[in-house]
Amino acid sequence: MLKKILMAVLIIFVLIQFIRPEKNEAGNVLQANAIQNEFTVPSEIENIFETSCNNCHSNHTNYPWYSNIQPVAWWLDSHIKDGKKDFNMDEFLSYDQKKQDHKMEEVIEMIEKKEMPLNSYTWLHREADITDEQRAALISWAKDVRRQINYKPFTAINNPLYK
Ligand code: HEC
Repeated sequence: MLKKILMAVLIIFVLIQFIRPEKNEAGNVLQANAIQNEFTVPSEIENIFETSCNNCHSNHTNYPWYSNIQPVAWWLDSHIKDGKKDFNMDEFLSYDQKKQDHKMEEVIEMIEKKEMPLNSYTWLHREADITDEQRAALISWAKDVRRQINYKPFTAINNPLYK
């Protein structure tokens, strides 16, 4: 009986290896709507995103070897899909001004509350864990981006002297 169960589990395991989610590897070149095209992302900040966030929040994921094993890949894929849907650094410029501002507000909040990077991720990827210094740098950068988003140029139209 036990042998039969083990055999069945083995067969299922082999079969599911063929059901592979599509990989998130579109953006190995700079994407048209990538945040870097409009906002300054200093290399220090870009490095933090690359090591700690972009596997789930960009169009390019660096897959570990075990991502080729099911059901691990399905589990990774669901995180990547969820993460990208909420916040994608490579699609940032496709958001309207209000949404861009809100997303940066979320970044600040997630980092302050230490909710990102996800615990389940840093548990496997120790290198993705971020220091308090890096948290502070990310927060001050996100605040700066918010200032840039909300900056209204001083034009004749809204200058009271011209009315
Ligand atoms: C392992 C994947 C993963 C990593 C790594 C990761 N995130 Fe996330 N992130 C998610 C998922 C999944 C969600 C949506 C569900 C949730 O809120 O838990 C999310 C949500 C968010 C949101 C909320 C968006 C919204 O509008 O609600 C922000 C902002 C965010 N992440 C920023 C970051 C930053 C900054 C980093 C790096 C310091 C990071 N994340 C690292 C998977 C990840």
